[in-house]
Amino acid sequence: MSGVLITGATSGIGLQLAKDYASAGVDVLACGRNQTILEQLSSRYSNLTPLMFDLTDVEQTEKVFKSLPFIPKLWIFNAGDCEYMEQGKVDASLMKRVFDINVIGLSNVIQASQQYYEAGHHIGIVGSIASEVALPRAEAYGASKAAVSYLARTLQVDLKPKKIDVSVIYPGFVKTPLTDKNTFEMPMLISVERASQEIRDGLNTRKTHIYFPRKFTTILRLIGLLPYRWQNAITSKLVAQG
Ligand SMILES: NC(=O)c1ccc[n+]([C@@H]2O[C@H](COP(=O)([O-])OP(=O)(O)OC[C@H]3O[C@@H](n4cnc5c(N)ncnc54)[C@H](OP(=O)(O)O)[C@@H]3O)[C@@H](O)[C@H]2O)c1
Repeated sequence: MSGVLITGATSGIGLQLAKDYASAGVDVLACGRNQTILEQLSSRYSNLTPLMFDLTDVEQTEKVFKSLPFIPKLWIFNAGDCEYMEQGKVDASLMKRVFDINVIGLSNVIQASQQYYEAGHHIGIVGSIASEVALPRAEAYGASKAAVSYLARTLQVDLKPKKIDVSVIYPGFVKTPLTDKNTFEMPMLISVERASQEIRDGLNTRKTHIYFPRKFTTILRLIGLLPYRWQNAITSKLVAQG
């Protein structure tokens, strides 16, 4: 493979992906805001180039993408954040923060990078299995990931004539700094190493939709097929309140 760009490469899933691709000899463009981690990565891997920017800032994002050191064939848009509402109370500023990163930030990065897309390129977009079922206190996160899933599936349709593949990635719970903040029990939590392996395997075989861990995401997808009233009855019992 001739190179990969990864957003959110300074922590959790993206950091593991960056290390795994770089260790395998793939040239990596590692994006994030955390300068210390980016410097550590680039001093450890000679084939990794750090790109520091805040993807919620469209000008910063555009500027960085105007002078990429090389054009990767694989683009992994992984950066994201999660905040939960206080149960039963919608907080509009929390909603805005989460949408700014997960939806607008993703759109900024796609807008800035699309000039380089060519036939044969591959885009991986990290959503969440949370987008498939309405989960307690996930008014912001779940809705933002539902938007990400829709955006990504629409891109699949729109980029197909140009022979550009888009894979949508739906992780269950993965142990990262993001989920370390959770105070509720996370069923079938997996390691970041396993998440990276699942994503890389899915991308290698150009799967259009990548779900993992299989058991947990299958259960949620089956729940998602039920009438909404039944879904709500199940999920309110399934996920303990934090
Ligand atoms: N962990 C899970 O259980 C889980 C489950 C389903 C889906 N996901 C999704 O997987 C992705 C990665 O999650 P994670 O658990 O690995 O989270 P994480 O450890 O918190 O990492 C998030 C990454 O996103 C970057 N980021 C956040 N805001 C940014 C901004 N404004 N500008 C640039 N970069 C920004 C962070 O970089 P800087 O701090 O350096 O900016 C960091 O590298 C997210 O999209 C998340 O929704 C995670």
